[in-house]
Amino acid sequence: MVVDVPNEGSPDDGYVLVSPYDKEGRYHSLILFRLASTPELVACLQENHAQPLRSYHQLYAMESACPHLGADMSDAEIEECDNSIVAVCPWHRYDFDLRTGESETGLRACTYNVKVVTDRSDGEEKVWVEGPDDGTQWRLVELRPVSEDFADPPPVSTPPTLPNTATTAVQDEPLVPTGRTPSTLMEWAVVILNTANPTLKVERTKHAVQLFRTGRLTSTGHKSKRVPLPPAVPPRDDNYTQNIVDPRKLGKRKNAAVMLHALANIEQWAIDLAWDIMVRFGSSHPNIPQAFFSDFTRMALDESKHFSLLVSRLAAISPSTPYGSLPVHAGLWESATVTSHSLRARLAIIHLVHEARGLDVNPGTIERFRRAGDTETVKVLEIIHADEVTHVTSGHRWFTWVCEQQGVNPVSTFREEVRRGWRGNIKGPFNVEARETAGLSRAFYEDLKGELDFITENTENGRQGSSSSSSPSLQVNYEKD
Ligand code: FES
Repeated sequence: MVVDVPNEGSPDDGYVLVSPYDKEGRYHSLILFRLASTPELVACLQENHAQPLRSYHQLYAMESACPHLGADMSDAEIEECDNSIVAVCPWHRYDFDLRTGESETGLRACTYNVKVVTDRSDGEEKVWVEGPDDGTQWRLVELRPVSEDFADPPPVSTPPTLPNTATTAVQDEPLVPTGRTPSTLMEWAVVILNTANPTLKVERTKHAVQLFRTGRLTSTGHKSKRVPLPPAVPPRDDNYTQNIVDPRKLGKRKNAAVMLHALANIEQWAIDLAWDIMVRFGSSHPNIPQAFFSDFTRMALDESKHFSLLVSRLAAISPSTPYGSLPVHAGLWESATVTSHSLRARLAIIHLVHEARGLDVNPGTIERFRRAGDTETVKVLEIIHADEVTHVTSGHRWFTWVCEQQGVNPVSTFREEVRRGWRGNIKGPFNVEARETAGLSRAFYEDLKGELDFITENTENGRQGSSSSSSPSLQVNYEKD
């Protein structure tokens, strides 16, 4: 399998997350470690190589889930010892030889041969990862750098000052709630879902994900007998829902400001959705692999990044309409409520319908900003689009996992879920290429119509929120699209 990452370039270390699926349709998550060739490292490794080392980076590939308890090895530290180089798991500090996968503990991580090959078509050097069956049966679906920093502009740290409105100060809540400090991922999920202020929600997401990745939480907590309940509808800070600016009076800025505001609102709900799926369905699926939590914490972090970037762009292009000053809606959470009974339904409707629709419309939105000459916003939207492809990939990965557990066909089951949990046609035009990259073939979504109005309640395996009713109607008074 050729992985299109440059072998030359920055001398810094950099890890790349590589997700292929095999001919049986199973997903794999690999970390490609690209390590700078320091003189010490070269000297250390040279001892085991007959040929002089020529490539700029040392390349190694390993399954991303630690063989001990499944920690995400993309946060592993790399250490040199004796004649080997090891990845140290962030959770319990077991170390695994990057070439053999062996550990002194007796456990063995799955590693893959990596080599640099010259592509005959263009003469370029490409990285080749050799999986089972020589890797020829693997199909690459996702490739993304593992970012160690949240290197984005911070979100607005104070609530918007809205004209002609008496605003109240944001409560000065600490990052870590006082009283009972959350100790598991599930406890953090509920704290974040109940955090009304969007800035604090972003900061808590960053904090909790970092604690989780570096093994500073006692556990995910999803197998506990006392997993806390998520709220039926995450609360919103009044300062961000006053909607006092009439979009009709925005003049020329209308389209761009309204669009960025609407996208930021969707991202705020998307942060909640990533936490909600973990805490709502984790306890009803105790055998779910650790990679589920790795994927959705990564998604929560991505959505936080998107929210921050969009709010910053909104502030830059339209200072008089900060986030919270325009009408917003809660359409995404309506679908979350409709699917609160079933992980399978949630993955189908939120990740393979709503998020996949994003893949269809993103290129058009990017083009509008490009035509307007707003290159900064174009950059932001391109980052978001690339991330969203990986979110649909994760949705597809876990949807097919649930289907496999239940012994049902993913395509026909998806179509059944959409008929039950969606209202109206699945609309095109479709971004077939991006959908295909994420695992969604045309058979999933073409000629498909939801019949939500005619369906009676289904209760598979979800948990109602702490203040929920079974009605899909929401308790927030947002303007609908
Ligand atoms: S050493 Fe990796 S999860 Fe324990």
